[in-house]
Amino acid sequence: MAKDTLTVKDNRTGKTYEISIEDGAIRSMDLRQIKTSEDDFGLLGYDPAFSNTASCRSAVTYIDGEKGILRYRGYPIEQLAEKSTYLETAYLIVKGELPNQEHLEAWMHNVTMHTMLHEKVKNFMAGFNYDAHPMGMLVSTVAAMSTFYPDAKNINDVESRRVQVRRLIGKIPTLAAYAYRYSLGLPYVPPDNDLSYTGNFLGMLFKMTELKYKPKPALERALDVLFILHADHEQNCSANAMRVVGSSQTDPYSATAAAAAALYGPLHGGANEAAIKMLNKIGSADKIPAFIKGVKAGEERLMGFGHRVYKNYDPRATIIKKIADEVFEETGKNPLIDIAVELERIALEDDYFVSRKLYPNVDFYSGIIYQAMGFPVTMFPVLFAIPRTSGWLAQWAENVFDEEQRIARPRQIYIGEDSRDYTAIKKRPVPQTLERKLLMGRL
Ligand code: CMC
Repeated sequence: MAKDTLTVKDNRTGKTYEISIEDGAIRSMDLRQIKTSEDDFGLLGYDPAFSNTASCRSAVTYIDGEKGILRYRGYPIEQLAEKSTYLETAYLIVKGELPNQEHLEAWMHNVTMHTMLHEKVKNFMAGFNYDAHPMGMLVSTVAAMSTFYPDAKNINDVESRRVQVRRLIGKIPTLAAYAYRYSLGLPYVPPDNDLSYTGNFLGMLFKMTELKYKPKPALERALDVLFILHADHEQNCSANAMRVVGSSQTDPYSATAAAAAALYGPLHGGANEAAIKMLNKIGSADKIPAFIKGVKAGEERLMGFGHRVYKNYDPRATIIKKIADEVFEETGKNPLIDIAVELERIALEDDYFVSRKLYPNVDFYSGIIYQAMGFPVTMFPVLFAIPRTSGWLAQWAENVFDEEQRIARPRQIYIGEDSRDYTAIKKRPVPQTLERKLLMGRL
């Protein structure tokens, strides 16, 4: 009978080792026994960017990148996008099961009761420059929240954990709205707890002099679906940051700030902002072939295309493309959609993209919808961070509970100088050439 093991022969020594395979993986620590001598440290796995290394066991999100499948806690994203709400999905992600009516109402109440911010948060906002990026403001103010809630340090206390989860999910839209209003010089709008999670967020952003803000149902629902689609995505860059920072047993606000900082980059949550800039730069459909030529020559990158995990159409992009029409019925068409659709068509017929399995990801169309809804591009990563907070918290809590986890601490392969003696400044050789220093990553 076949055994669930891997037999490895070390050709340096001629020795053979049998290593267990569990859930399709070997434990990297099992490689450590493979040594050339007693004082050899043992074999390491080398995996920059964690392309083939599982860092945890997780029950939150399942992705099959080859087939284009995404599920939260086993539920297909398509069903959640059609039937659920963001807050219900956040409950599912954080707690593991869909709530019954009573639990859903309690959860909605508990999150909604945490939408207000301490007045002093306004002082933090006031310290930012008039043109500060709202995502930078969000990252900083989420981190600052840990100073308001020192009880959050009790990460092993179940009640404290519950409260921080509600606070973070409840307050992050308010922080985001404050950042937006500040950048426009508009007065802050306090939360309206009669409205839905997304309706209230839209109100805190866009309310002007009207006594009661009434969100447009089509836009409120579209944003809610976009929030569902962005709620979690297993071990991506920001979830990994959340887990790594959380593994030092810091409080969840500080870990969430680290995750949001990871999301800020153009290769992660900043990609839809970059996609809009790219579409604007292309300008019209007739310029697409020249742009594609630049991408293939390595001069450009087709933003909103490609994914580390999906080697097929990102299922979130399929749903977002459908929402676009519903949003445009309310807002009028964003002309960039025509360039995007044509760009997708041309790219998907081109061997460069086909052979590399590069398809539109969640960010290709989401920016076009956000822009039609009136959001400036600088708010796009913020719109990603709000719903992703539930995913980050679920990933963080899993790490806290996981007895196999310890403080995250990868190994390195040292490529620097061997031991050498300090030399007096006058005796030091002429500096190495700039080129060599750059190669060594020292500048
Ligand atoms: N445009 C042009 N070429 C690309 C692109 C792209 N968008 N993405 C990948 N490639 C090429 C890449 O140059 C490489 O080619 P070669 O084999 O000739 O060197 C090959 O495809 C494999 O790419 P990679 O960079 O090794 O793939 P990765 O898994 O390291 O990167 C990615 C994944 C998402 C960072 C990358 O596809 C990318 O930069 N895409 C554009 C940015 C973007 O849309 N990011 C949003 C990701 S989805 C939202 C989220 O989950 O955060």
